[in-house]
Amino acid sequence: MDFSFFMPARLLVGDNVVRENSALLAGLGTRCLLVTGKSSAKKSGALEDVTAALESHGIPWQVFDGVGQNPLLSACRAAGAAARAFGADFLIGIGGGSPLDAAKGAAIYAANPELTGRDIYDGHKAPALPFALVGTTSGTGSEVTRVAVLTDDETGRKRSVATPDLYARVSLGDPRRYTATLPRRFTVSTALDAVSHSIESYFAKTGTPIHRACAVEALLLLIPALRAIQEPEALPDSDGRQKLYLGSIYAGMAFNGPGLCFPHAMGYFLSEGYGVAHGEACAVFLPQFIELAVREEAQLSSRLLARLGLRKKELCDFIAGLTGDVELPRLTDGELEELLPRWQSSPNIARTPGDFTPEKQRAVLKTLFQ
Ligand SMILES: [Fe+2]
Repeated sequence: MDFSFFMPARLLVGDNVVRENSALLAGLGTRCLLVTGKSSAKKSGALEDVTAALESHGIPWQVFDGVGQNPLLSACRAAGAAARAFGADFLIGIGGGSPLDAAKGAAIYAANPELTGRDIYDGHKAPALPFALVGTTSGTGSEVTRVAVLTDDETGRKRSVATPDLYARVSLGDPRRYTATLPRRFTVSTALDAVSHSIESYFAKTGTPIHRACAVEALLLLIPALRAIQEPEALPDSDGRQKLYLGSIYAGMAFNGPGLCFPHAMGYFLSEGYGVAHGEACAVFLPQFIELAVREEAQLSSRLLARLGLRKKELCDFIAGLTGDVELPRLTDGELEELLPRWQSSPNIARTPGDFTPEKQRAVLKTLFQ
């Protein structure tokens, strides 16, 4: 087999899409748990739209807002228990990547109360409850993927759960409104996550022509939209927000299947231990990833750079310019060595072009953190 492509994702995007498609949400069940973070669902106006849509069909709802950045398994389990206690038969995740991924985890836990500890990473028996997603950032692409990244409470480490059960029944996007209240720092860091998804999946050994086409399309939207807000205080206009959102969706489609490479695997420790935003944590590794990919995959890289109309250095400088103010820790040799075993059996390392040996990993870390 040369490749397979499977993406049963239903996505509707446009102004007022939630209120105008309330029947799609109502069609998912009779009682709904809404999974949100602390503020973005409210501030963006998405929560108000979703509750109005549910109320127009007489559907009772309850909010679970106990989801933080980098959602913990315990928060997802608590949301699952809240869904059961409320008698919810479907969920809606509203917010950025964290609430959307938490809603996915909660949909599994709600239907599988026997799951404890880190069981969820190893599969589940009962099908997840149906769920819808309403995104308020442009980065994760969770709307179209079968992936949720959840943090193990015990180890503090992020890990993916990937199963067809984690495709939303429907995702609704109104980026011109819902991303309008997003501060610049989040706008850029979430867009950098999407840029990382695109570039990593494009070069992954597991990549396919269809996924690569999505990656190119994503970058053709994301790069100009990010260029337009390069000034320190600049925010995207309505057209820019639409481009960033669509770019994040294409990027989600690009990695949903092939998976990602070393920037995502190596970036996790920066979010877990040093509070670096996920998108920035991955993107700081991108210039080195691009150098490596150009060496290992000459044809693929020249095709990509030609499509983008950029030279390698221009692409690397562009990304470095957006991550220049990310505060990176300084690590000792001993601390670097302690990190390496994390990636010993990581699929992201295996997918990285060439043979990304521990020696090469060490060299990347030394360049960035010493
Ligand atoms: Fe990501």
